Amino acid sequence: MDLPALKQVAEKLVAPGKGILAADESTGTIKKRFDAIGLQSTETARRDYREMLFRAETAMKEHISGVILYEETLYQNAADRSGTPLVELIVRAGAVPGIKVDKGTKPLPGFPGETITEGLDGLGERLDRDREQGARFAKWRAVIDIGAGVPTWSAVKANAHALARYAAICQAHEIVPIVEPEVLMDGDHDIERCEAVTRWVLNTVFEELFEQRVALEAMVLKPNMVIAGKKSGAKNSADEVARRTVAVLKDCVPASVPGIAFLSGGQSDEEATAHLDAMNRIGSLPWNLTFSYGRALQHAPLTTWGGKVENVPAAQRAFAHRARMNGLASLGKWEGALEKAA
Ligand code: 13P
Repeated sequence: MDLPALKQVAEKLVAPGKGILAADESTGTIKKRFDAIGLQSTETARRDYREMLFRAETAMKEHISGVILYEETLYQNAADRSGTPLVELIVRAGAVPGIKVDKGTKPLPGFPGETITEGLDGLGERLDRDREQGARFAKWRAVIDIGAGVPTWSAVKANAHALARYAAICQAHEIVPIVEPEVLMDGDHDIERCEAVTRWVLNTVFEELFEQRVALEAMVLKPNMVIAGKKSGAKNSADEVARRTVAVLKDCVPASVPGIAFLSGGQSDEEATAHLDAMNRIGSLPWNLTFSYGRALQHAPLTTWGGKVENVPAAQRAFAHRARMNGLASLGKWEGALEKAA
């Protein structure tokens, strides 16, 4: 393993003022997003949409450090005459291309309501191919739900183990792993329960990473924030979310991890930005804290675009705005008033 090279990529992904665009929706997930704007999810529509994002020059060059791609996109070409690979557009903008390599969640046998993420078989060979195509980092998402009697220890352990095995395989194939244990915010639990489960999950993940001899300085953690479940009706202040999230991270994440890039997980665009900003305002943290948002970066451009070519410039502006807001939040320099100026 070329540790200095991997470290360099990991550090670039979490560089101050920048963050990651998670554009790696599976074919099923992007269909749901397109359904919401009344657009049929064809291979061409998916290409046009993602090409539009990657060609949004200001957003990409100034605020996006890396882009997570779904396999289809990594091997797809732009609509121009020469058929420029989409991955080339990302590289030209100065960002690092990455690849989602997990095969999604499956029911965990014996544990009703819980899932395990699959995709370890043949992973090394896939990573070699993806690296050849330009990918320099990868992502694997484990999903932990909160509910009556869940999560169980067995599900936490199995998911943490798979994440660590994935991370070790990535590094052996010269790919930086993004380790994503997502505690869902879908339930009716309060913020204390989210805090306890997130602490439990992160402790278990780092134990497993240690056991699998993963180089912590050559990975990026992608966690959820500590936040009340959507169905709880509770609204905690940005300062409380920030304080509790940072406290859990300080307890669980070794300082050798270069950066933490949060998922947005269903938070509104502005909430996701305000929470990240509040965390960075706390200051004196051992790791860079930034974003790796899917929905919170794409909701505005996707709805502005609506599948119509004449809306491309406005959609790119909407993307640039969210990217700039989150870039400022990664520095603790965002202000609510900046949203209205858009
Ligand atoms: P969201 O920010 O929409 O949660 O997506 C991030 C992601 O990559 C989930 O795996």
